[in-house]
Amino acid sequence: MAPSTSGSLSINNHDDAITRIKNIEMIEMGRHRIKPWYFSPYPSELVDEPCIFLCEFCLKYCKSRTCLKSHNRKCLFKYPPGNEVYRKKYSSQTLSFFEIDGRKNKSYSQNLCLLAKCFLDHKTLYYDTDPFLFYVLTENDDHGFHIVGYFSKEKESSEDYNVACILTLPPYQRKGYGKLLIEFSYELSKAELKAGSPEKPLSDLGLLSYRSYWSETILELLINLKPGENHEKPQITISEVAESTSIKRDDVVSTLQSLNLINYYKGQYIINLTEETLNNFEKMNEKRKIRIDPKELKWTPKDWSKRGKW
Ligand code: ACO
Ligand code: ZN
Repeated sequence: MAPSTSGSLSINNHDDAITRIKNIEMIEMGRHRIKPWYFSPYPSELVDEPCIFLCEFCLKYCKSRTCLKSHNRKCLFKYPPGNEVYRKKYSSQTLSFFEIDGRKNKSYSQNLCLLAKCFLDHKTLYYDTDPFLFYVLTENDDHGFHIVGYFSKEKESSEDYNVACILTLPPYQRKGYGKLLIEFSYELSKAELKAGSPEKPLSDLGLLSYRSYWSETILELLINLKPGENHEKPQITISEVAESTSIKRDDVVSTLQSLNLINYYKGQYIINLTEETLNNFEKMNEKRKIRIDPKELKWTPKDWSKRGKW
């Protein structure tokens, strides 16, 4: 049975036994063979196959390579549907971001959620993709725009979430793309003049990546603060940090605490940057080669509350 296309499938306790067992052996997509980590509700006729085959551009799933080949002859996609909102040539790669509306490109969005669920254990999978936007990161070459990862974002979030789910596909992990996706999500929040935070709970890998991004971003800001007129120590409030980074106040405070930088002294928070912190920051910064260039972002926020549902 194909997954229902409306409503949501939540992973509650009752379903645990069935839904948590990994059901797909292998996924072949473009030039990658990827082993799923967790259960994903692909149609049952696919789960007995040793491998399922995905069109790397529209993410349609097939039971066999023959079926995929016949799909490829018809499939016109060479990039994700939606608007290309960012493109930049880096020394090793040209990268793009596409914005996909979960209402306008339902089939793509649902296929993306099915693929993502293979690597996300603790998240609820929504088949109702209408309330979400999907930001897909691609590596570009002569053959097309190849998906590297994505994050989803609610069009309107009552809790100021700026990311619902985030994923780097396993062949691309640990190369800095997770932090690039996170950086992009905060650039969108800056353009919206809002602070944002990822939806909870975070996975262990999600928390690691966010902690690392928050630490680097906040340290970079603090290190570049100018001293006062009489060479006094620079001053900044937590709210100012939140305002200029779009990182929510709570996340700013928890990051400073986890870095052990914050002390309460005579009624004020004092941040003390030690030589060791500065050295660690330099090392972290050297590793981070690809960064978002805000000049290349071709995007303006939409007010979704003013739009009708249709
Ligand atoms: N073991 C130890 N550290 C790791 C690992 C790992 N397996 N993977 C990443 N890290 C660390 C990196 O060392 C890096 O830290 P550093 O810069 O301080 O050295 C940091 O995490 C980020 O690394 P990136 O290479 O930028 O991230 P990556 O492209 O691997 O993506 C992500 C991170 C998105 C969390 C990825 O692991 C993933 O897709 N996981 C599966 C899905 C998931 O858990 N998503 C988050 C769920 S929470 C949510 O959706 C809101
Ligand atoms: Zn296709």
